[in-house]
Amino acid sequence: LPDAWLSKALFGTNVMITTGATFEAIDPVRGITNISTGQMGVALARACRRAGANVTLIYGQIQTDLPNGLTHTIQAVSADAMYQAVHQSVREQDVFISVAAVADYKVKNASNEKIKKQAGVAPVIELTENPDILASVSQLDDAPFCVGFAAESHDLLNHARAKRQRKGVPLLVANLVSESMGKATNQVTLLDDEAETELPNMGKDQVAEAIVQRIAHLLP
Ligand code: CTP
Ligand code: CA
Repeated sequence: LPDAWLSKALFGTNVMITTGATFEAIDPVRGITNISTGQMGVALARACRRAGANVTLIYGQIQTDLPNGLTHTIQAVSADAMYQAVHQSVREQDVFISVAAVADYKVKNASNEKIKKQAGVAPVIELTENPDILASVSQLDDAPFCVGFAAESHDLLNHARAKRQRKGVPLLVANLVSESMGKATNQVTLLDDEAETELPNMGKDQVAEAIVQRIAHLLP
C-alpha cells in the first residue's frame, strides 16, 4: 500500500494499546512473568501514529525502545496496575488494542519481606485470578472498537474463534507462540465478522500496518 494511504487511515482517532509482559510479585525480589517482549504492541503504536492516531501506550515489562510521538506512555507492571491505567482513560478512546501478555493469575499473599530459604521445606505459592482487562473493556456500554490477540501453542484457529466470542471483540489477531513471541517477525491470521485472513510471515512493522488497515476498514 502507498504510504499516503496509511497516513490518513486513523486520522484523529484515539487509540489505546497495551503491550509487554505483566509481572506479579512473589516477594520484593521475585515474581511471575512471561516471555513477551512488547515488540508487536510497540510496532502497532508506531503504525497507529503513522496512520494519524493519538496513541496511548500502556506497557508492562518490555525489551524494546518506546517510539517517539506518542500522546501518552504509561508503565503498569502488574495486571491490577494495568487494569487501573487502562480504565483511567479508556472511555476517551475510539480503539482499544490489547496486545499485552497479562498474567492470568497473581500471587495471593505476596510477601513484603524476602522469603528466606528453609532447608527441606519448599514453599507453596497460592495463586488467585487477575481481572481480564480486555473483557472488561469490551463489556463497557459504548465500548471502543476492541482488538484482541491470541497466542496459542497448538490448534490455533479453534482456540482463536472461541476466544473472539468469549472476549466479545470484533477483531482478533491469532498467532502461534512459535511464530511470534521473542521474534522480529510474525505470522498472523485476522478473525472478524467478515473474514478469516491469513497473512504471510512478515516483519512486525508490516504486520502492524496490515492490522491498522483492517481496523480502519472495520471501524464504524
Ligand atoms: N487479556 C487481558 N487480560 C487478561 C488476560 C488476557 O486483557 N487478564 C487479553 C490479552 O491482551 C489478549 C487477549 O486477552 O488480547 C487474549 O489473551 P489470552 O491469554 O490469549 O486469553 P485468555 O482468555 O487468558 O486464555 P488462555 O490464556 O487460557 O489462552
Ligand atoms: Ca491468558
